[in-house]
Formats: sequence, structure tokens, C-alpha cells
Amino acid sequence: MSKVIFHSLDSGAEAAKAGWHGGPLLDARRRPLRDLRISVTDRCNFRCTYCMPREVFGADYTFMRHSELLSFEEITRVAAVAARLGVQKVRLTGGEPLLRRNIEALVEMLSSLRTPEGDPIELTLTTNGTLLQKKARALKDAGLRRVTVSLDALDESKFASMSDSGVNVATVLRGIDEAGRVGLAPVKVNMVVRKGLNDDQILPMARHFRHSGHVLRFIEFMDVGNTNGWNMDEVLTGTQILDRLRQEFSLEPARANYRGEVAARWRYTDGGGEIGLITSVSQPFCGDCTRGRLSPEGRLFLCLFANQGHDLRELIRRGGSDDQLAAVMAGIWSVRGDRYSELRGEEAARLGKIEMSYIGG
Ligand code: GTP
Ligand code: 5AD
Ligand code: SF4
Ligand code: SF4
Repeated sequence: MSKVIFHSLDSGAEAAKAGWHGGPLLDARRRPLRDLRISVTDRCNFRCTYCMPREVFGADYTFMRHSELLSFEEITRVAAVAARLGVQKVRLTGGEPLLRRNIEALVEMLSSLRTPEGDPIELTLTTNGTLLQKKARALKDAGLRRVTVSLDALDESKFASMSDSGVNVATVLRGIDEAGRVGLAPVKVNMVVRKGLNDDQILPMARHFRHSGHVLRFIEFMDVGNTNGWNMDEVLTGTQILDRLRQEFSLEPARANYRGEVAARWRYTDGGGEIGLITSVSQPFCGDCTRGRLSPEGRLFLCLFANQGHDLRELIRRGGSDDQLAAVMAGIWSVRGDRYSELRGEEAARLGKIEMSYIGG
């Protein structure tokens, strides 16, 4: 985290002067702001080796204090302004978002947001699933549309070594099923594939989730953060994953649900449902990246791999108006040129990055 640079408001304000004056908001590569991913906490009850390795995030690690976090009112304000600027989808992440106390109240507040055309915002959440069985109904009632659940293995000991958590696979599976049952559907299941660690789980996971109504997505192991010991040798590419699946199943490509969809969709030809491949290492998708990320304490990041965030909390707590906030956010977005996954390699060694557990996936 030491290399992270926090831009002061002035850079946003300057950009605001130079950039947006109303009308469609595009960044420097002509990408609109469509999605806002909001990290509501930097804490998690898992210690996935690729995200929060225990050697770094141990007992003496200092997480953010509650007073540092944006309040629900402050988060909702940023999201409402983002909706004015073009955001159509909001995803709550963490850390583990369900650890934030009374998260249902935030969901309820966000669920009333509308786009300028009057359409509801698509409200989703990514979780590790441990608290989902208990919370699914309340989240649905509060207005959440869908959930995505991370699950890297069905085998108990593999799961334990990936998540380093002491939680049982069955707990997560019950959470997934409950989410489907209450209508937070389709439930998407994210499996990060790390060669030599859990790639033997690809087929068992596919068998389990076929015909379940849930959508399993395989994610290439990424070099996010500075602590996960990433190495290209541990990446199994989407093509290699697909080859493995095709040894057992017949799959055909399916069209993207929307422009810029992160996962490439494939459908079982026998009607068993679909899977997704998220290939940000082997086939980057920065050209269509419409995602902004809000950190727990209110910094706007323009890329999952950014090393700098723009402080919005300072403006909010100093009494800035919604119009000022809109101008600053628009200014920040309008000069955005990030495309880290396309540059990976050239840039990777040079830049300090933020941790995934801080900014969400
Ligand atoms: P839906 O299509 O609405 O379900 O959302 P999604 O696929 O964007 O959501 P999800 O949070 O499940 O994203 C899946 C995973 O893809 C994340 O956990 C990340 O690992 C990866 N990912 C998502 N967005 C980006 C991105 O902008 N850049 C990169 N490099 N990876 C991303
Ligand atoms: N590479 C790929 N995906 C990752 N995630 C966390 N760290 C990584 C990484 N290094 C995924 C999680 C979860 C989402 C929030 O991001 O498994 O599904
Ligand atoms: Fe927690 Fe998700 Fe990171 Fe695992 S990947 S440590 S569940 S935030
Ligand atoms: Fe978007 Fe950055 Fe991911 Fe590229 S690397 S898709 S710019 S978040």
C-alpha cells in the first residue's frame, strides 16, 4: 500500500475545468462510465492466498477504522451522482461486503436510485458466500437484484488451502442455493484458477453447476495487488480451461449479454446452462472497460490496477454540493486513460498497485 498515491481534490477540480461540461461523459479513450463498483469494507473473514495472504494480512494488520469509511448516506450520494453521469450498474464488493453491519440498509438506499431516464440501477453484490444463507432473503427484500459468489474448489482440503478460512464448502454451497431460491438470480459463481493448486477442480465444479441454473465463471489468476506472489506460470488461460472442459462437455459460444461484458459466455449444447471465461491476462478487455471503483473511504479509482485514487470524501465532508461532486467526478473520468491489462508486463514491475481486498474485484 505504501506506493499508493492519493490525488487531492485539486487534480479532479482541474480536470473538471478541462473536461466535462454536460452531455455524454466519455474518458480519454472514449469509454463511458457505466458501472460503479463500491467496496464497503477492507475486511474479510477469508485469507485467500491470492488476495489477502495471511503473512501480510495477519493479526497485527491494521484495517480501516469505522470513522474512516464512507457512511451509507455518503456512499448513496456518490452513487446517485454517478447515476447522473451515466452509471447503470452498481456492484457492492469488499473485502467481504456482508461483513459491513446492516448492509441491507445500504442496499435499500441504493435500490431507490434511478438513471436520468428513470430506469432503476442494476444492483448486485460479490461475496464469498459465508453469510449468504442467513442474509439472502433480507438482501432480496431490500432490493438487491443478483449476487456473485466466489468459490474456488469443491474439494474440502483444496478449498481450505485456497481460502485459508476454516469455512466449509457446504456453507458456501448453501448460500448459493439460498440466493437462487430467493430470486437473486442468476447466481454467478467465480472460480479463480491457479495452475497446480486448484485446476483439478475445473471439471468437478463444472459437473456440479451444470443444470443448476447458476452460472460458473472461470477467472484467470491475475497480478492484482503487490502481495499475492503472482507468476505467469500459475496462469491457466481461458483457452486452456476451455480445452479441459471440452474433453468432457460439448460447448458452443454464446453472445455477450451487453457490450463490455467481462466474461466470454459459452453454452452447453445439451441445455445444461452456461459458463463464463474471464481472461483478463490472456485476452484483456480494457477497450470496453466502463468500470469506476469507489474505495471504502471514498477514493475513486479508475482501474483495478491503479496506484492512485481520487479523494471524494474530503469534498463531501467539507460540505460540497452534488453539482460540485458531479463536476469533480466527471473531470476525473474525462481524463482517464487506464488500460493496465493491455500494458501488463511493460508496466507491471514499475507500478505499485492497490490490493484487491481494498477495492474489490
Ligand atoms: P456481471 O456481468 O454483471 O455479472 O458482472 P461482472 O462479471 O463484471 O462481475 P464480477 O464482479 O463477478 O467480475 C468477475 C471478475 O472479473 C472479478 O472478480 C475480477 O476478477 C474480474 N474483473 C471484473 N472487472 C474487471 C476489470 O475491470 N478488469 C479486470 N482486469 N478484471 C476484472
Ligand atoms: N486473480 C483473479 N481473481 C481474483 N479475485 C481476487 N483476487 C484475484 C486474483 N488475483 C476474485 C475473487 C472474487 C472477486 C472479487 O475477485 O475470487 O471472485
Ligand atoms: Fe476475501 Fe474475496 Fe479476497 Fe478471498 S478474494 S480474501 S473472499 S475479499
Ligand atoms: Fe478496466 Fe483496468 Fe481492468 Fe483494463 S485492467 S479492464 S482498464 S479495470
